[in-house]
Amino acid sequence: MPTSEQVIGLAKQFLTPNYTRYPVCLVRGENSWVWDAEGNRYLDFFPGWGCGLLGHCPPRVVRAVQEQVATLIHVPNTWYTEPQALLGKALAERWGAAGVCFFCNSGAEANEAAIKLARLNGKPRGRYKIVTLTGSFHGRTMAALTATAQPKYHAGVEPMLPGFSYAPFGDLAAIEKAVDGETCAVMLEPIQGEGGVNLPPAGFLEGVRELCDRHGLLMILDEVQTGTGRTGTWYAHQHWGVQPDIVTLAKALAGGVAMGGLIARPEVGEKLKAGTHAATFGGNPLAARAALATIETIEAEGLLDRAVRIGERFRARFEALREACPLVADVRVKGAMIGVELAVEGAAVVQGCLGRGLLINCTHQTVLRLLPALTVTDEQIDAGCDIIADVVTRMRV
Ligand SMILES: Cc1ncc(COP(=O)(O)O)c(C=O)c1O
Repeated sequence: MPTSEQVIGLAKQFLTPNYTRYPVCLVRGENSWVWDAEGNRYLDFFPGWGCGLLGHCPPRVVRAVQEQVATLIHVPNTWYTEPQALLGKALAERWGAAGVCFFCNSGAEANEAAIKLARLNGKPRGRYKIVTLTGSFHGRTMAALTATAQPKYHAGVEPMLPGFSYAPFGDLAAIEKAVDGETCAVMLEPIQGEGGVNLPPAGFLEGVRELCDRHGLLMILDEVQTGTGRTGTWYAHQHWGVQPDIVTLAKALAGGVAMGGLIARPEVGEKLKAGTHAATFGGNPLAARAALATIETIEAEGLLDRAVRIGERFRARFEALREACPLVADVRVKGAMIGVELAVEGAAVVQGCLGRGLLINCTHQTVLRLLPALTVTDEQIDAGCDIIADVVTRMRV
């Protein structure tokens, strides 16, 4: 097996430099553990950037993919396949309202589809504009990127797509002000992930729903990061009893296999008529079987409840750290979605944890973000939190 150094050399020569990577080559994973090419083991509190909701190589997903890959890998959507139809049913049934699904391969693609669907719905009334929220993250393709209200991600690739306006997260009055007679939708994450694990203020999501109803707008929720049980309900919006018109999914949807999708109310989704949109690989049997196995695992192992308990354990640990260490400014938790805001930049903490065999993420310079697997054990949570506490406490301001 090549060494990490050899692989890094190849990558530097033959891959575009668009990722900030740590000098580690990972070769194998199992639950919350991953190993590098030198055999070093790491505890992963950020498996697959949120895609590893069940940890690395979850057994039911592995079995489903192995079986399916030897049966039928991919056929285009000119044909029907059972796994895709069953997945549509499974997702819609857990949504709490009648719904129809479209499948693709990533979060950005899911949001592109949602944006097109909102415009297709708005078209007869001359409406095409979408209001999104500052600090949001919706993906890197041009429409999803325009929806991402963070100038740093727009820099260098302007002009952005026309028809988007922005309002601060949590500010209903500002959203209302951004709406005009050509607006067709408001699009937001129920909890901002990349933006810093920002929880919605009390009444905010309900307020957006009411505002959308009053102005005849679609409410699009981007649940690419929060969906598929991450926060302890199938879809995070279920915590607030709010029913969106469109929800987008990806990341954990197929247990680590690439897949994205959306669910829409049938009268909204029907505007995605034949010829209006497509994805060649979308909803292929391999990804759909992996997604069905993911749902099966979550239900068979009671992982929605486990997500809540995971959140409580992390919260207790980080609240204790906040009391003990003035560098911890805030702790924000919803199920297995955890943000620890520091009073200093967090890059050195991530680096320090890596040196101690723990993988975590830092977003918006100061927010340590953890998206642990729902299969993580209490012992692993405690061991990882001990490392984080030790690294943070030793930080110099
Ligand atoms: C909320 C949200 N939407 C969309 C995306 C983009 O997903 P992808 O990288 O699969 O295109 C992300 C990725 O982090 C995300 O967190």
